[in-house]
Amino acid sequence: MSKGVLFIDSLTVRYDHRVAISKISIKLDLGKFHVIMGPNGGGKTTLIRAIVGLVPYEGKIEIDGLNMKKYLKKHPIGYLAQRGAQFQSFPLTVLQVVEMGRYHFKESKAVRKKHARQYLNEVKMDSLANRSIGELSGGQQQRVLIARALATESKLMIMDEPLTGMDPRSQSKFYEMIERIKERYSLTIIISSHDVGFTTAYAENVFCINKHLVPHDEAAKLLNDPEIKKIYGSKIRLVEHHHLPSEEKEDV
Ligand SMILES: Nc1ncnc2c1ncn2[C@@H]1O[C@H](COP(=O)(O)OP(=O)(O)OP(=O)(O)O)[C@@H](O)[C@H]1O
Ligand SMILES: [Mg+2]
Repeated sequence: MSKGVLFIDSLTVRYDHRVAISKISIKLDLGKFHVIMGPNGGGKTTLIRAIVGLVPYEGKIEIDGLNMKKYLKKHPIGYLAQRGAQFQSFPLTVLQVVEMGRYHFKESKAVRKKHARQYLNEVKMDSLANRSIGELSGGQQQRVLIARALATESKLMIMDEPLTGMDPRSQSKFYEMIERIKERYSLTIIISSHDVGFTTAYAENVFCINKHLVPHDEAAKLLNDPEIKKIYGSKIRLVEHHHLPSEEKEDV
């Protein structure tokens, strides 16, 4: 039992017997902003899908001492999948998309709308409430999806590469928004990202996976690479995290 953390212990996921992630063990403090980094195919999406219960796995996932699968039955979580082409010809307004996040609440339509507006306001999209969702840019749609996730009132928000396709200014605004909503709603936020620069400036914990959890000193070496420094300047910092003994075990 580990209270106050999302506890992942020796997590292995296979697709048709091929191991995608292997023996990942990590404790993530609840109420913090965590970023999963790693190369293409490193297993970020797989880890996220295991946490939100979309792929079978070996090992253990617990949240605040409770089995994750049990938690998912009782609590909504805000989950944004890795972005594809979405909402191109969806016949819904921005407001209606956010309202969808509240369908599990018993409340009148008027109250639902009021809440949806509040969350749209939170991501600074209220001015587009009546526009058709398909008319919005990818970055704007992403904000609306975040509002929908917030509208569920879940305490855990997990987003798979939410920054893809955002320009640097939008990225820094996104991170500021994340910090704001995390504090306001006491959220635990986990995102995956390829971005070394902004991520390391804003995240409270960064960890890398490449099939395995990449040990801290290897990640430090990567961030000290002169090429990486040239791209991101001095903003880079490595955020300490602790590995658990089960990572040392051999692959099955
Ligand atoms: N549905 C699937 N069936 C079979 N193999 C899969 C499936 N999804 C992912 N994989 C494999 O699992 C490994 C991890 O993939 P995953 O999508 O988790 O990586 P990722 O870190 O999210 O990559 P990216 O940065 O490109 O999004 C890869 O080798 C991938 O080919
Ligand atoms: Mg992915």
